[in-house]
Amino acid sequence: VNKIKNAKLVLLGDVGTGKSSLVLRFVKDQFVEFQESTIGAAFFSQTVVIDDTTVKFDIWDTAGQERYHSLAPMYYRGAAAAIVVYDITLQASFARAKKWVQELQAQGNANTIMALAGNKADLLDARQVEIEEAKKYAEENALFFMETSAKTAANVKDIFTELAKRLIEA
Ligand code: GTP
Ligand code: MG
Repeated sequence: VNKIKNAKLVLLGDVGTGKSSLVLRFVKDQFVEFQESTIGAAFFSQTVVIDDTTVKFDIWDTAGQERYHSLAPMYYRGAAAAIVVYDITLQASFARAKKWVQELQAQGNANTIMALAGNKADLLDARQVEIEEAKKYAEENALFFMETSAKTAANVKDIFTELAKRLIEA
């Protein structure tokens, strides 16, 4: 039997952390050095097949610029899954990610499966956020955590696939 599961997924995180780049890598397997900053939000669709289930993600790639903050609830409300993205080379983006997690915990749907992505993992020389620090935070907040690179594609498919698995199990 082939089952189809539709799932709304939202990406949240500071400006320039690589939300759009992660989506572009996942949906089109492409990367661009000069990705334009998102205005409002962008919509994408992609499927993941897990055994006999096709998970169809409706993906909302939100804009990280602060002036769009008030739009975010429209995208995370009713989301089955959320990926909160920070940039491993910017401690401030990790602080912002924690704020997003808090907001989701307070205002979002309690059933939303949340992942934390430490993106730009290819930029090891510029690292400001230690993997252990992020791992610990993720464990304390029941988030699923991975470091990713939209540039090299490392862990990008994996994070979406893991979310799909958890959605099927939920
Ligand atoms: P907003 O839409 O403004 O919120 O930003 P965003 O989170 O969508 O970031 P975006 O995908 O636009 O990426 C910002 C910049 O970081 C772009 O120049 C990307 O090329 C670059 N970038 C994104 N992901 C990676 C990555 O994994 N590694 C490296 N080295 N650069 C990346
Ligand atoms: Mg963007």
